[in-house]
Formats: sequence, C-alpha cells, structure tokens
Amino acid sequence: MRWILGTALAATAAFSGPALAQDCAATVSANDAMQFVEKELRVSRSCTTFNLTLKHVGTLAANIMGHNWVLAATPDYTAIATAGMTAGPANNYVPPGDARVLIASKVIGGGEETTISFDASKLEAGGDYTYFCSFPGHFALMSGKLIVE
Ligand code: CU
Repeated sequence: MRWILGTALAATAAFSGPALAQDCAATVSANDAMQFVEKELRVSRSCTTFNLTLKHVGTLAANIMGHNWVLAATPDYTAIATAGMTAGPANNYVPPGDARVLIASKVIGGGEETTISFDASKLEAGGDYTYFCSFPGHFALMSGKLIVE
C-alpha cells in the first residue's frame, strides 16, 4: 500500500513542475469605431505578472477617440465609468483612489499602445469581471468579459 501511494505522489510531482508555460500576456485592440476588437480575455491565475497591452489601431487623437482599459467587478463598472467622466482627462477618466478600480491603463490615441502589468493570482477564480473604456460615453459600447482560469 505504501508503495502505491509513493508512486502516485511521484507522478503528481512530475506533472506540477514549471514545464507548463502559461501565456501571461495578451493584447486588446481598440479602434476609431469605439470598439474593443477582443470582447473576451482569458487570464490564468498562475500569472503573477500578466502583461496586458492596449493597442489603439485607429488614427483619431486621444482627446477625440481616446481609449483606456479598466478592470472592475462587473456590478461596479458602470458607476466607475460615470465617476470617471467627472475625474476628467488629467486622471485618465478614472476616479482617483477608487478601490473599485482593480486595474487601469492610461488613455491613448490612435496609433499608440500601452502595457500594464498586474498580478493575476489576486483575481478570483470564476469571478465576474468586466473590462471597459472609461473615456466619456464609451463604456456602453466598449466592454468585455475577463475570465479568470
Ligand atoms: Cu474608448
């Protein structure tokens, strides 16, 4: 019996090594038509550093068709977007010090990109998360689902 248990443990250890490389980076594109191209993003909790790149594939300037990438629990995101309008461009349309904001990039214009890093292990597996653009008037069209695996 002891021999069988020992074998099972050894097999488990062999499969849990660092050989399984996770993809800890993703790009979400945004365009001049006020859309995120990717409406869903999968993030592994094994990624203690996840690099998210927001790429503005349009040509319009940041003050006209600026986009950012903000992550929140789904029930919070519309309220954050509303508060973001008041926060204004100096704050990238993100309410400063708002604990409901989990991750937020700066606002970028056409042809630009920005990368933010976050610790995906702090997200809840199976949690209900939405990413959105908090530029005034954009959140209704610009949102997507972040799935934590
Ligand atoms: Cu936008």
